[in-house]
Amino acid sequence: MEIELAEIVEGNTKLLVPKDSLVDSSPPRDPAFFNPRAKISRDFSIIAYSAFLKNFRGPKIFLDSLAGIGARSIRVAKELNEMEKVFVNDVNPKALDIAQKIANLNSVTKCSFSENEACRFLSLHSRREDRGAIVDIDPFGSPSRYLDCGIRATFHGGLLSVTATDLTVLHGLFPEACRRKYYGIPVKTEYGNEIALRLILGCLNIVAGRLDVMIAPLFVQNNLHYYKVYVKILVKTKSNNNMGYIMHCKKCGNRQIINDSDYSCKVCNSKAELAGPLWIGSLYNKDFVEGMLVEENKFQVDKSCKKILEKCLKEIDMPPTYFTLDEIAHRKRSAPIPLAKIIEKIQNAGFKASITSMNPSAFKTDARMDEVLSII
Ligand SMILES: C[S@@+](CC[C@H](N)C(=O)[O-])C[C@H]1O[C@@H](n2cnc3c(N)ncnc32)[C@H](O)[C@@H]1O
Ligand SMILES: [Zn+2]
Repeated sequence: MEIELAEIVEGNTKLLVPKDSLVDSSPPRDPAFFNPRAKISRDFSIIAYSAFLKNFRGPKIFLDSLAGIGARSIRVAKELNEMEKVFVNDVNPKALDIAQKIANLNSVTKCSFSENEACRFLSLHSRREDRGAIVDIDPFGSPSRYLDCGIRATFHGGLLSVTATDLTVLHGLFPEACRRKYYGIPVKTEYGNEIALRLILGCLNIVAGRLDVMIAPLFVQNNLHYYKVYVKILVKTKSNNNMGYIMHCKKCGNRQIINDSDYSCKVCNSKAELAGPLWIGSLYNKDFVEGMLVEENKFQVDKSCKKILEKCLKEIDMPPTYFTLDEIAHRKRSAPIPLAKIIEKIQNAGFKASITSMNPSAFKTDARMDEVLSII
């Protein structure tokens, strides 16, 4: 039976999508998967890839290993003129049929389509001359099984973008599954989304180390349904100490970044909980995010992209973890204090403080929890 398709527009690309995916609350995987709510993730990809290509010297090849109906890859082909060649791969032939129709509808000719298991597809691109300048991994659930072949298929100096949607695992509902898939475990905290992003980066860092390359995070993005990280793959030049633990004391709210597993809280002496091992280095590259802000103007993307990027720039030099207004109010046993006011007070006391892109009701600071509480 012919799949009923509807025509929609994302960016300046026309898409043909299974009609049911526009009405069902969770888009059906059959006959082909398309998630209209992931538009903003694709918008960010267009901006990030465009910023990346500005400074990339080498063959401009995009590998979309789990392409679905090609919403991301055909947008890349249509909207990024600099991109020279786009490989659209999926195991689902029905999704690929639609992807081909979308390419024709947009008069895009630089795409090749293949029906392969993602690791096989990526392995076919692991020779230096076949690697992607940009490689995307966008699976259902955890990306962990695709990381080795994804890194191998990325040009040295290229960009790898990775999505995870196994939120329950990354948020600590199944710690052992998390250790198995990401090598580290989370602690349930108010800043669980940041821990999740750092676990994904930590896992990428471990796999990269095994393959004698290293990662440099350029940008991370999250919303209620997924996490996405953008990392540059580089030839390993130095051993980095970007791995460690977030020690979180549930009694007094103190958090500390530590490299080993001594975990009594330095503030209240209670035994604290440890998230990790995970990435404790920077999540963003300042030049790259500034570049994304320049590129953002050139595309038809959601207005929120610009706002989020501006927030990222503000938090770039801040240490890991953030404090929510609710947590502070709860510990103070008072009504929440406005965000701008808290930030001002902390800065006036001589500490750094900023908003964060990860939570609209939270701030980042280099002050400890006890210091924050005494300042306000
Ligand atoms: C989340 S969807 C991809 C969405 C797409 N990237 C987008 O932006 O619209 C995941 C896709 O992976 C495909 N898939 C699942 N397992 C796969 C595998 N082992 N190899 C290749 N494709 C696979 C599914 O058919 C599905 O189309
Ligand atoms: Zn404590």
